[in-house]
Amino acid sequence: MSTTTARHSLWLEALPADGYRNLEGDKNFDVVVIGGGITGLTTALLLKRAGARVAVLEAGRIASGVSGNNTAKVTALQATMYSKIAGRHGTAAASDYAAASMAGVDQLAALVEQEGIECDADRRPAVTYAMTEGELPAVRREAEAAAAAGLPVTSVDELDVPFPMFGAVRLDDQLMIHPARYLIGLAASVHGDGCEVFENSRVLLVHERTQCRAATESGTVSADRVVVATHYPILDRGLYFGRLEPIRAYCVALRLRSGAPPRELAISAGNPAWSIGSAGDLLIVCGQSHPTGERFVGNERYQRLESFAREHWDVDRVTHRWSAQDPRGYDDLPMIGSYTMGSKRLHVATGYAKWGLSTGTFAGMILADRLMDKPNPWADRFSPHRVTLTALPSLLKMNAMVAGDMIGDRLVTVDTTTSEDVPRGQASVVRDGLGRKGVYRDDDGGLHGVSLRCTHLGCLVRFNQAERSWDCPCHGSRFDVDGNVLEGPATRPLPRRDPET
Ligand SMILES: Cc1cc2nc3c(=O)[nH]c(=O)nc-3n(C[C@H](O)[C@H](O)[C@H](O)COP(=O)(O)OP(=O)(O)OC[C@H]3O[C@@H](n4cnc5c(N)ncnc54)[C@H](O)[C@@H]3O)c2cc1C
Ligand code: FES
Repeated sequence: MSTTTARHSLWLEALPADGYRNLEGDKNFDVVVIGGGITGLTTALLLKRAGARVAVLEAGRIASGVSGNNTAKVTALQATMYSKIAGRHGTAAASDYAAASMAGVDQLAALVEQEGIECDADRRPAVTYAMTEGELPAVRREAEAAAAAGLPVTSVDELDVPFPMFGAVRLDDQLMIHPARYLIGLAASVHGDGCEVFENSRVLLVHERTQCRAATESGTVSADRVVVATHYPILDRGLYFGRLEPIRAYCVALRLRSGAPPRELAISAGNPAWSIGSAGDLLIVCGQSHPTGERFVGNERYQRLESFAREHWDVDRVTHRWSAQDPRGYDDLPMIGSYTMGSKRLHVATGYAKWGLSTGTFAGMILADRLMDKPNPWADRFSPHRVTLTALPSLLKMNAMVAGDMIGDRLVTVDTTTSEDVPRGQASVVRDGLGRKGVYRDDDGGLHGVSLRCTHLGCLVRFNQAERSWDCPCHGSRFDVDGNVLEGPATRPLPRRDPET
């Protein structure tokens, strides 16, 4: 048994060594779905069941996005979501969100059953708890808002956690799954009988004419309809970039020396939120969120999660650590529907605010209905083209922050004038002629240099020491130390720079 900490999610260990082939040459399908996460694969399978010939193009491996890097809770009770939605949009919107989320949980359970997917699906209660007395009013508000939205919640005073708890709201019969196994199962159901899944096939652009054409480096897929299920939308139209904020969060899985981890899918109501779950005999703790690309992010994010766990449980060791990000919509609702106003060809789903296992599933239901020209009760509510006047201040704040990061790299402070001073395992901003470059020195002493200008819309990337990646504060694109794209919306790598000069 390994005693080192794996730097990936415990779910990704289920990925088979052999995957699907990458796209080569020119193909034709009815629908092309871009992205092999829960949104893309659910949409693809529901469309296949309705008779469409579907291609899924995934940039990396199936489940390698946030769908394979999360806390694995499939639940309609989601921290303090209902008080937030009811406060901003009213009770009818919260009721729609509750009904859609419950439908998402049920749809996922039905797909597990019908497709025979072995993904450790386990019915468990979900709870939002007060970690301090100060968090209790938020829990009470959530209990009221969730009940008003139609969820059969109860208020409880006890929870299976080894620390004082001041009250909780609970929803029974939610689901814990192994998300990677679930997605591998969905992909297997999609693939075959006229439908195809392609891995390692990053879409670089989509042409929208009489037919749409999605192009990767080595091939194209022509189709009548395109679903952009890339998490953060990759196409530069529809003004998504001004309406979404990617939030990154960190997770650890820990083996306990004694005692069992809690069964509940629990999350605290405060800020910072402590999300707790378990898989088998491993405890999972997630949290320490921040907007992607924030300054000075280091290993302290993981250390705080580990300290929290050690303070309350008899922890033997940390087995896995991972992080991921999810975009939050400016008005707290997901955006699901036509990519641009009135478009019949291009479609999108995004903005799940870290609750996309149920939301991504109901997004698949809405999109499949939409593409098959069937009515859906929630289509208008979650349309990306709604106007939410009450969210204007939040929209303005998001965009002011982005504008602040679109500065020239000459204005970025230089950490050091020469790459020689960059310590091992760290990165610095180094002078590069009249501009700047990012230089990382690996653990063996090798230097890696990149341009700091994000290839999406030109903001300046910052180093994330916890993940050893260059992260963009504007829309969350991430790049490895050699500039390769880790996450979009960027589709092209950061240009390399000679680190020695
Ligand atoms: C730390 C953390 C914990 C979470 N825990 C939970 C939880 O417990 N419960 C819950 O409901 N939600 C949770 N979430 C959120 C949830 O995981 C996501 O909302 C959901 O998985 C999003 O699914 P998706 O299909 O939209 O995105 P993804 O799973 O990211 O799928 C998008 C896919 O598109 C691919 N892609 C991107 N660009 C391209 C391109 N150009 N061409 C081709 N493919 C491309 C990516 O590689 C990726 O595989 C959590 C999120 C975080 C950050
Ligand atoms: S992600 Fe948009 S500019 Fe970097």
